[in-house]
Amino acid sequence: MPNEPYILNHPLIQHKLSLLRDKNTGSKEFRELVAEIANLMCYEATRDLPLKEIELETPVASCKTKIISGRKLAFVPILRAGLGMVDGVLRLVPAAKVGHIGVYRDPQTLKPVEYYCKLPSDISERDVIVVDPMLATGGSAIDAIGLLKKAGVKNIKFMCIIAAPEGMKALQEAHGDVQIYAASLDECLNEDAYIVPGLGDAGDRIFGTK
Ligand code: PRP
Ligand code: URA
Repeated sequence: MPNEPYILNHPLIQHKLSLLRDKNTGSKEFRELVAEIANLMCYEATRDLPLKEIELETPVASCKTKIISGRKLAFVPILRAGLGMVDGVLRLVPAAKVGHIGVYRDPQTLKPVEYYCKLPSDISERDVIVVDPMLATGGSAIDAIGLLKKAGVKNIKFMCIIAAPEGMKALQEAHGDVQIYAASLDECLNEDAYIVPGLGDAGDRIFGTK
């Protein structure tokens, strides 16, 4: 059985997502919103990080308290649009390393085409959160996660802002061990495999390329 996806319905995330969907939202605001949503989502996606107890002295007394322990984290954005989420997640985990995977969706075949992969040298010793705003057919995420598994990564989470039911199902079937986080599970894909209602082309809206 694949992991049940988390749909993060926190009011702040939902409010910002509505602004993101609006076709009248320009690139500058769109970029800021993507980073802010990624930041809020990362707070939820790191909820299960292990803690260990330490002892320290406050100015008043000694106390037992907790710090994060266990394996280190890496974030891996899927280029291009995933780049928009990196600043937001790094604000919460500034010591994390960042890998990059370049995959674009061929507009004719809709199949993922890999064009770049640069990962931290110790990636197999890290837990990884893959970030990409859109999970449409699922092809890009499935491909990128496959590359990470080939590189020896064991514990992978996938964080997107909007998922289509088709992509969610495909990703769960291909990588049932990957925990998925999304801010919205939308209705469906249209004939061009764009998410409905979605927000349009995330990369173009972040970088102003259309
Ligand atoms: C978008 C998006 C995902 C992919 C999702 O990238 O950022 O990576 O499409 O579609 P899929 O689930 O059907 O694979 P795109 O291919 O448009 O590339 P870009 O980020 O460079 O614009
Ligand atoms: N990629 C996007 O950027 N948007 C979609 O709706 C589908 C794929």
